[in-house]
Order: sequence, then structure tokens, then C-alpha cells
Amino acid sequence: MQMVLLVLHNLLRWAVIVTAGWSIFLSVKGLASRALYGKADNLANMLFMISCDIQLVIGITLYFWGGWFGRLLHWEIGDKLSRFFTLEHSGTMLLAWIIVHIGRSVVKRGKTDREKHTKALIYFGVALILILAAIPWPFRTALGSHPWFRF
Ligand code: HEM
Repeated sequence: MQMVLLVLHNLLRWAVIVTAGWSIFLSVKGLASRALYGKADNLANMLFMISCDIQLVIGITLYFWGGWFGRLLHWEIGDKLSRFFTLEHSGTMLLAWIIVHIGRSVVKRGKTDREKHTKALIYFGVALILILAAIPWPFRTALGSHPWFRF
């Protein structure tokens, strides 16, 4: 079961990245063409938020179930892998999740379409940067083996 969650957590990262990229692309396009903030923009932002929500739930489950919380309590100095998953990955992703949620409500409350596109670009852009920085990419070899796609 834990392996199933890890596979889901691995693959869902692509849904997070694609929906974030889509939201950002639409907000840039909306600003450049002075377009209305419409249904497609709202859908993209909502799917980005939902994929982050699912990642958060699976991530927290892996955190406690996969023994990472235990490692936090018995932390050895210099253990980069434990530091990354117990603090850096989880903390940064949690921050990104908060920014996405605040962003959604700030965008909704925007008074003009231009303001909505601008806020979406800022909040979702910052969230995507944090997410990309905190993913254990396969080339970050010090963090163990984390493939591009796990099946
Ligand atoms: C947008 C949010 C997130 C993304 C994109 C993401 C992405 C990933 C990826 C790609 C992996 C490597 C999976 C693999 O080895 O195949 C991973 C592992 C992990 N993530 Fe996340 N994550 C997110 C949020 C979280 C959160 C919020 C937590 C905990 C609070 C968390 C906890 C973990 C843990 C504990 C592992 C290591 C699992 C293991 O190897 O036992 N993640 N994450």
C-alpha cells in the first residue's frame, strides 16, 4: 500500500507541474491580450489547487507511515536524506500549498480581470518555483533513487 502511495505521489507531481504551467501560461496570455479572466483560467487554477491538495494528503501519509516522522525525532547530524524529507521537502511543499490556497482566494477577490491575471501569475508562479526547487529530481543523487516516473 505504501508503494502504491509512493507511485501516486511520484506521478501526480507531473499533474501539479502541468496544471501550474497551464495556469501561469493562461495568466501571461490574459495579461498580454487584455483578455477576461474566464472559465478556462478558473479551471486551470482549480485543477492546480486540487492536485496540490492530493499531493499534500499522500505526502503527509508517507511522512508518518514511511517512518520519516520517526527520523525527525531521531535525527543524526549530516544525514542529508533525512533532513531533506523530514524538513526541506515537506516544509517547502507545505508553504507552496498555503501560497496556492491564498492565491486562489486572492485571485477570486480581484476587482478587475487584469488584477486577477496578475495575482494568479504572482502566487502560482512563486508556488511553482518552490515546488520545482523541492522535488527530489533523479539528478539529485544525494537524495537516493527517485525516478522521473515510478510504476
Ligand atoms: C506539490 C506537492 C508535492 C510534490 C510535487 C511532491 C513530490 C514528491 C516526489 C516526486 C517524491 C519522490 C517520489 C519517488 O521517490 O518516487 C516525493 C517523495 C516524498 N514526499 Fe513529496 N511532494 C509534495 C508534497 C509533499 C508533502 C506536503 C509531504 C509531507 C508533508 C511530502 C512528503 C514526501 C515524503 C515523505 C517522500 C519520500 C517518500 C519515500 O521515499 O518514502 N511530499 N515527493
